[in-house]
Amino acid sequence: MTNPTFSPIQPATVDWHESTPVAVDFDDPYFSRQDGMAESDYVFVQGNRLPERFRALPAGGNFVIGETGFGTGLNCLLAAQQFLEHAPNLARLHLVSVEKHPLRKADLAKALAHWPALSSLAERLLAEYPAPAPGFHRLQLHPRVQLTLLQGDALSLWPQFHHPVDAWFLDGFAPARNPDMWHSDLFAQLARLSRPGTTLATFTAAGFVRRGLAEAGFAMHKRDGFGHKRHMLVGQIDGGEIRPAMAAGHILV
Ligand SMILES: C[S@@+](CC[C@H](N)C(=O)[O-])C[C@H]1O[C@@H](n2cnc3c(N)ncnc32)[C@H](O)[C@@H]1O
Repeated sequence: MTNPTFSPIQPATVDWHESTPVAVDFDDPYFSRQDGMAESDYVFVQGNRLPERFRALPAGGNFVIGETGFGTGLNCLLAAQQFLEHAPNLARLHLVSVEKHPLRKADLAKALAHWPALSSLAERLLAEYPAPAPGFHRLQLHPRVQLTLLQGDALSLWPQFHHPVDAWFLDGFAPARNPDMWHSDLFAQLARLSRPGTTLATFTAAGFVRRGLAEAGFAMHKRDGFGHKRHMLVGQIDGGEIRPAMAAGHILV
């Protein structure tokens, strides 16, 4: 573990509304009260066309997913499960997610208990879940799936990350409640870490988010939202087709 920043970490304060964890400081749930896993799948996994891209990986290819807002890890575990189902046997997935207020382990365990389909990945996450210490933490969720958890503020940590990302999950609570996670400086970091073909998906369709991401260099599109939500956003960095994944090798962060 490296410690690129020394700001102390304040763990999340969570209120449980029946079985849904809600962040007290943001007054916003971590996942949809309606059907969290189906929403994650629709917005982030399908929004980035991950199953088809995983299937198209070469043997031994690497795929990198970046996320703003790790929360309960639902999105990451779901993406990992889809990767293990669709990617060729020797391909590897690297998840990179930032979290300013990590859940306490007991809250994480309670949240993950909702998803029996993800239980083996969830067990690994719980076993390797780091103490709330600032910096980069490396977790091995499966022999072919690695997670780098950046604990601290998104805006100060992404500038310290240096490996290109293939798909982004933008999941930082509602923009009106947490403008820090929808800041133009953060969008510039996402663009810096993108390469031709990199995509993004987010549950919000807020106009300033769409414009900010377009100014940062992403071609943005609205699509139907999940459930009662009218729209969500997907995007792709300007320039080029989705490039073939990198050949196997170590990913430097
Ligand atoms: C909607 S939740 C993420 C849900 C998550 N993706 C999941 O699968 O459970 C948003 C997350 O962003 C985190 N967050 C909020 N502001 C942040 C910031 N400035 N930097 C890093 N993380 C932040 C919150 O603590 C919270 O865990």
